[in-house]
Amino acid sequence: MNAVPSGVCFYLSVAICWLTAEVDASWWYMGTLGSQVMCDNIPGLVNKQRQLCRQHPKVMQAIGAGMKDWISECQHQFRAHRWNCYTTARDHSLFGRLLLRSSREVAFVYAVSSAGVVYSVARACSQGELDSCSCDPSRTGSSQDARGSFDWGGCSDHVEHAMRFSQAFVDARERKERDARALMNLHNNQAGRKAVKRFMTLQCKCHGVSGSCSVRTCWSAMADFRRTGDHLRKRYNGAVQVAVNQYGTGFTAAHAHFKRPSKNDLVYSEDSPDYCVRNQDSGSVGTAGRVCNRTARGADSCEVLCCGRGYDTARLSRTTKCECKFQWCCAVHCRDCHQQVDVHTCKSQT
Ligand SMILES: *[C@@H]1O[C@H](CO)[C@@H](O)[C@H](O)[C@H]1NC(C)=O
Repeated sequence: MNAVPSGVCFYLSVAICWLTAEVDASWWYMGTLGSQVMCDNIPGLVNKQRQLCRQHPKVMQAIGAGMKDWISECQHQFRAHRWNCYTTARDHSLFGRLLLRSSREVAFVYAVSSAGVVYSVARACSQGELDSCSCDPSRTGSSQDARGSFDWGGCSDHVEHAMRFSQAFVDARERKERDARALMNLHNNQAGRKAVKRFMTLQCKCHGVSGSCSVRTCWSAMADFRRTGDHLRKRYNGAVQVAVNQYGTGFTAAHAHFKRPSKNDLVYSEDSPDYCVRNQDSGSVGTAGRVCNRTARGADSCEVLCCGRGYDTARLSRTTKCECKFQWCCAVHCRDCHQQVDVHTCKSQT
């Protein structure tokens, strides 16, 4: 029986251990094992997290279910780069040894994962899946925006609650160890949470005589997670390299002419490896076998992506719908067209 996961996730962000649990299918045993046993067997949780897990097993489930969303957002943002947010379910760490580093990429992973936790908890609250929260209770009565006054109605996402829970749970690990890396992880976690709140939008319904919109009911809703992903990706580009000050309480910019990081900036301290070749120590899986674009000039060009090792080309035949004709009434008929496409993949190291 492989009901409970084993292994450790030292130093890894908490959410990452949750996926481990999911991969090992322990979710499906939750009913029989109960939350106590489940929480006790998730590797890598610190005591405070185990306690929260036992108290809020459904919240944990929401976090676990939301993981694939922030992972695929991470992979979307870096799809054309040497580091492409590759995850592996083979060991218990999801990102290999990558997260032992303090690189820009790790800063992004911490930020996007804690943003993902906020997003999935708030969504689960709104959808009535949790006993501990629902819609934002403070959004009652009436209020005003640029277009005038409106009544709060519908379900406003309770993002404040989700941020508090995420902070208590995700940050618990870093609060145990007060070192430079913990300080950076906490900062990037918070930057990620703030990125979700930043894109809350007011959504409204019009009422009144023949849609005159003289009366509006509105609710505050989180934007699509893509907005958060795009924002954090920009923050990754402008991430600030820092050193921890001599008291271990805050950051100083690593270089005199660099700006000091704001609360919304991502921070890192270590230069990144080039991610060209597989290297377990740096958590790099290398770019061998990655599909590259021969005519592009950017990061996904074969030149850059393959790190000068060259590429293999395979000619594949692809079937697409073509010569589609509309027929009265009402059908569309297409032909199957066969197309030859060349797919280029990076060579491995020779
Ligand atoms: C390759 O890059 C070119 C130029 O940027 C672009 O027009 C083309 O769509 C890309 N091809 C693929 C398969 O992505």
